[in-house]
Amino acid sequence: MSKDIGCCDTFLIFEEKRGRIIMRQIIENPGYKPDLLPGFLDRLKIEAILCGSMDELTMQVFTSKGINVVTGVSGNADRIADQYAITSKKQANMKSCLQPMPKVLVSCRGLNGENNVLAVGYCGNCSYDPPMVMVGIVPTRYSYQMVKESGCFVVNLVDKSYRETFDYLGSHSKRDGDKLTAMNVRLQDGKKVNAPILPDCPVNIECKVVDSIVTGSHEMFIGRIEYVHADAKFVDLEGNIDFSQIDFI
Ligand SMILES: Cc1cc2nc3c(=O)[nH]c(=O)nc-3n(C[C@H](O)[C@H](O)[C@H](O)COP(=O)(O)O)c2cc1C
Repeated sequence: MSKDIGCCDTFLIFEEKRGRIIMRQIIENPGYKPDLLPGFLDRLKIEAILCGSMDELTMQVFTSKGINVVTGVSGNADRIADQYAITSKKQANMKSCLQPMPKVLVSCRGLNGENNVLAVGYCGNCSYDPPMVMVGIVPTRYSYQMVKESGCFVVNLVDKSYRETFDYLGSHSKRDGDKLTAMNVRLQDGKKVNAPILPDCPVNIECKVVDSIVTGSHEMFIGRIEYVHADAKFVDLEGNIDFSQIDFI
């Protein structure tokens, strides 16, 4: 490792993936002229520079390009790159970091008989036996009160043919207008719960609320599954759904 980045003959370029060095390349130093090096290394899409030392101005140019500069490094370059690779993950934002996030439509009915549907991403299976799912609803949603007072909801799995409707129902509140009529959303009564199912969705999961937890922004409603409807073409003789055939959004 050279003492100063400007006076080295060659650069060792490493490519790192998931903490391992997967490629190593030697590149001639194009020569030390102010401003030449930052552009040269930027074109190589360098994310980090490990070097002995670097003048303040050059360092500022690199960091303004989002390149991480580590100085004060000495010793064997391969070993240094290995060590850096192990710690190369970056800290990232914490919000909605469990991905891919499901995209479902939750349908519900208030005690006055009013129907509604909203898009939900905060949801998941939460018990295998008895079968249960949970959906997270923000208390300010118009649907929230309906689920709270009726104690039931339907989770509708959505395929790509319903994308436009999904986006609309997830960006418009029934409080501001009849979004179901606006998108010609077809509804049918549930078999076991007092909430509608969406027959244009391939799978509809009828649930009774058995518990709820206010986790923070969302109230997670735990629903015991009472009945599952699925398009006949996806269901085998034992009632298993072939989810691989559904073109989920
Ligand atoms: C991809 C996507 C995921 C969403 N996930 C949730 C969610 O998990 N919980 C929630 O309360 N709202 C969620 N929303 C927002 C609601 O669907 C949206 O605010 C909707 O307009 C509420 O309708 P309502 O007021 O008629 O109940 C999501 C929206 C989108 C587009």
